[in-house]
Amino acid sequence: MERLRISVERHAVLGFLAREMERIWGSFDHAREKEPELTASLKSLLSEGLPEDSQEIIDVLGKSIDVLEASIAQSRPRFLAYIGSSGLEVGAIGDFLASSYDINQAINSRASTLLEQQTARWVGEFIGFESSIGYFTSGGMVSNLTALATALNRALPNSRKSGVDRKVAIYASHESHYSVRRTIEILGIGSDGMRLIPIDDRHRMNVTQLRQQIDADLAAGVVPIAIVATAGTTLTGAVDPIQDVAKVAQEKKIWLHVDGAYGVPAAGSTKSALFYGIDGADSVTVDAHKWLFVPKSCSLVLMKNIEGLVKTFAHHEAYMPHLEGDYNPVDLTLEYSRPFRALKLWIALKAYGANEFRRAIDKNIQLAELTYEIASSREDFRTLPHPPDLSIVPIQYRSSREPDASTLNERICQKIIEDGRFYISTARIDGETWLRPCYTNFRTTEDDVLALFQVIQELGAIL
Ligand SMILES: Cc1ncc(COP(=O)(O)O)c(C=O)c1O
Repeated sequence: MERLRISVERHAVLGFLAREMERIWGSFDHAREKEPELTASLKSLLSEGLPEDSQEIIDVLGKSIDVLEASIAQSRPRFLAYIGSSGLEVGAIGDFLASSYDINQAINSRASTLLEQQTARWVGEFIGFESSIGYFTSGGMVSNLTALATALNRALPNSRKSGVDRKVAIYASHESHYSVRRTIEILGIGSDGMRLIPIDDRHRMNVTQLRQQIDADLAAGVVPIAIVATAGTTLTGAVDPIQDVAKVAQEKKIWLHVDGAYGVPAAGSTKSALFYGIDGADSVTVDAHKWLFVPKSCSLVLMKNIEGLVKTFAHHEAYMPHLEGDYNPVDLTLEYSRPFRALKLWIALKAYGANEFRRAIDKNIQLAELTYEIASSREDFRTLPHPPDLSIVPIQYRSSREPDASTLNERICQKIIEDGRFYISTARIDGETWLRPCYTNFRTTEDDVLALFQVIQELGAIL
């Protein structure tokens, strides 16, 4: 092998990869009967020390595929845990191409910078957040942090210099994602500044209580920094009433951030009515690596204008010169080195068109509705009193063998994972443990939903 190059064997390596990828992608179209065991030889491979000498590249690639095959892959159709992405094939190709060129989106990199801006505009259009600008980040956590840092800077313009020198507050529902609290801690606001607004019986932010809390804070001299509306909560997929929250934000002149990391792509689907008012937000988080199906990591923070980002992040460093008013992306983002994450989404949107994405999202929503329907029609299952807003649908298994619902559902979840046909997780909702299938994989079908109930029934019988 020529030093640090695949040269002589290039053709053979690409041929090997092409054959393997055909097999691998084909295998993702079907559920596996069981997750493979970690074999002794794999364990031994993964405890080897630093290799000093070269090894045959095809052999090394083969071993890396062995590792991937023995790992929990979210691309598989029966992975219903957490909120996964699903390794869209053209997205994986986009990653391969982008990594090969290894462009750094920190600086203005000509065509790739334009493509990033174009893709962010497309996503804004798709979700109804018009005329926005946006940057790709590593995940919803960083997108939320970017947006809330910008909100903090708008409310306290001196805070970059003097820190947070007043009592401030950020408002989000009880079921907002933990990344909001983490952001508040990291920004130096302190979690005392987190106002957890109660939820209604559909797990959405209670806007009357939001308003009361803001009024109480204003009367006490606390500066409101931002309201975070969650568009698709992690626990139940509930969408906060964005339009009503936006009214409060406008009236009180508070920054409105929509954390749509998971759910906001559904604004482009038949569920668009749930997202009315989103255009009145100041910023939106969208994880394309969740419900736009592309591989991790690929999140976006969208804003109505660039000014807030400039004021929050721009700087002059000797090694990154730029003209006044002519910013490098690094002046507008939290991260420095940034891979070309936009390419995979650009390829995907070009290759399939927005309508195909709408259809795939609607299909996931139908699977959640089917799950809800089946569970509500059966004695041995319980559902929440309301059907799912989006594609997360908590269900509880019931059995006379174990009267405590939480214990039963923890045990059945453990059994399902050990069994290996499905991968699912639990969630604590209203103080109880539920199974929480999340449908964000374009490969999952109705047959998979029916099989899930069969597997639960089968395993429940031998608990
Ligand atoms: C609503 C919400 N916001 C933010 C995040 C964090 O996203 P990431 O894991 O991409 O950092 C998640 C993750 O599930 C989420 O559901």
